[in-house]
Amino acid sequence: MLKLTSVNPKKDRFNTLVIPVCEDADIHDNRTVGMLVKKALELSEFSGKAEEEVTMYHPEGMAVERLIFMGIGPLPSADLEAFRAVAGRTVKGGISRGLEALCIAVPSEKKTGHGSADLIAAMMEGAVLANHLFDRYKSEKKSTPLQEVTFWVKAQDARRFAGLPGRVAAACEGTILARDWVSVPANDKQPDAYAAAIASLAREAGLETAVWDDAILAEKGFGALMAVGQGSAAKPRMVTLEYRAEGAEKTVCLVGKGVTFDAGGLNLKVGGAMDGMKMDMAGSAAVAATLLSAARIQPQINVVGVIPIVENMPSGGAIRPGDIIRTYSGKTVEIGNTDAEGRLILADAIAYAIGAYQPDAIIDLATLTGACVVALGEKIAAVFTEEDDLADAILASSRRTYERCWRMPMPEDYKELLKSDFADISNMSSSKWGGAITAALFLSAFVKETRWVHIDIAGPAYAKKASAYCGPGGTGFGVRLLLDLLERI
Ligand code: BES
Ligand code: ZN
Ligand code: ZN
Repeated sequence: MLKLTSVNPKKDRFNTLVIPVCEDADIHDNRTVGMLVKKALELSEFSGKAEEEVTMYHPEGMAVERLIFMGIGPLPSADLEAFRAVAGRTVKGGISRGLEALCIAVPSEKKTGHGSADLIAAMMEGAVLANHLFDRYKSEKKSTPLQEVTFWVKAQDARRFAGLPGRVAAACEGTILARDWVSVPANDKQPDAYAAAIASLAREAGLETAVWDDAILAEKGFGALMAVGQGSAAKPRMVTLEYRAEGAEKTVCLVGKGVTFDAGGLNLKVGGAMDGMKMDMAGSAAVAATLLSAARIQPQINVVGVIPIVENMPSGGAIRPGDIIRTYSGKTVEIGNTDAEGRLILADAIAYAIGAYQPDAIIDLATLTGACVVALGEKIAAVFTEEDDLADAILASSRRTYERCWRMPMPEDYKELLKSDFADISNMSSSKWGGAITAALFLSAFVKETRWVHIDIAGPAYAKKASAYCGPGGTGFGVRLLLDLLERI
C-alpha cells in the first residue's frame, strides 16, 4: 500500500496530490509546491490552521486532477505527531471521498527541523493506521480503504529510505492486528478460539509456538490462572511465542493480560463498568502482535511472548471472595475481590516466564486497573519499574511513537496494604486509594530479582471515539512502542 518515490507534478498523471501546509511558514523544498501553497493561502477559506483543508480541481499547468491542501497549524508546534496526524486525516478524507489512491508531498527536512527518515516514517504510520476499518460485522461495507498511498520525496531520499515502507508496514500491520483482536466481541474470542487464532498466525510467521489447555495448566500448577477461569464454561489457555535472533545476547519476555471478557466474577461489575470489557485482553493482543511484527522486522534480540488467556465470569463454579489459591510461584493469595483478576493471571505468567526463560528483562502490558484511568485519563499509560534505565528507554520510545506513557512510583511502604491475615498476600488493597500502584506492587511480589516493567494500558487500549489515525475500538496501543524499544535495548 505504501510507495516512496520522486514525482513530477507537471508531468506525472495523478488523481490526487496532497500538500501539507503550515500557517506561518513554507515547509516544502519544491518550487512548484511552494507556489501552489501561496495560491491556496490567498483563499479566504484556508489559512493552514490545523484541521483546515481546501481542494482545487485541475490546477493550471499540472497533470493532477485534484489538489488537496491540509492545514497543520504553526510550524513551532508541528512535531512528528502533527505530521502523523495530518497523514491520517488525509487518508480518512480520501476514504470518505471514495478515492483509490493518493500522493502526499513530504515536507522538507531543513524547513521542518525533522529528519527525513523520521518525517517519512511518521507520515507513513499515520497513513497506514488511518486506512484501517473494522467493519467485519457490518453486512454492508460503507467505505473501502485506499489501495495505495504514495509519498513524494526527493529522488535521493527515495533510494536512501527504500527500506522504510516495509518497516513501517510491519509495525502498523501489527498494530492493526492488535486493534482488530481488541474490537472483536467477546463471544468470538473466547480463550480457546483466541489462543488458536494467535497460534495459527504465529506458526505461519515462523515463531516457535505453544498453546496449553486447561488440563496442562492445572497439571503444571498455574493455580491463579485456573482459579480465575473456573467461573467460565470457556477454560483458560496459555500461549507462548518465541522469536530468536541469531547471535543475540539478550532475551526479553513480554507478558500480556488476556482476559477475553471481564464481568468481574462474583464481585460482578455494575452497569456501565462492564461495558467495553471485551477490551480486557488488549495487553495480550499487543504482545502477540509485537511478536508477529518482530518476526518480520527481525530485531537483534530474543523476544518471548507469554500470554495467559481467560474469561472472568460469575457462576456456581466461580472463585469466591475469601478463597485462598496457590499460584505457580508457590505463593498463596487470598481473594479479596474476584474483579482483581488481571494481577492473578499475570502473577502466574510472570513467575513462569522467569523460571522458563531467565530473561534479561520482563515487560508486562495489562488493562489492569480503573484507578490508572482515574490517574492518567484515557490516553496515557502508566509505567511502573525500579529500573531507571528501562523506564527512560520506554519513555523515549513512547515519545517517538506518541503512545504516551508516564512513570509512576512504587513506594515500599504501600506493600503493607496487600497483607492478608491468612495467605501470603491479598489481591485487594486495604485502601481504596492508589489502586494502580497497589496492583503494580502485587505483581512485584512475583518478580524476584529479574529486571521488570509493568505498563498499565487500561486508559489508552480502547477508544470510544475516532481520532486522526484511529477508528473507534481497539487502538493497538503498545505495539509500535515495544517494537521501537526492542530495536534499541
Ligand atoms: N479490567 C479491569 C480494569 C479496567 C477498568 C480496565 C476500566 C479498563 C477500564 C480490572 O480487572 C479490574 O476490574 N480492576 C479493578 C480492581 C479492584 C477490584 C481492586 C478496578 O480497577 O476497579
Ligand atoms: Zn477485573
Ligand atoms: Zn480485568
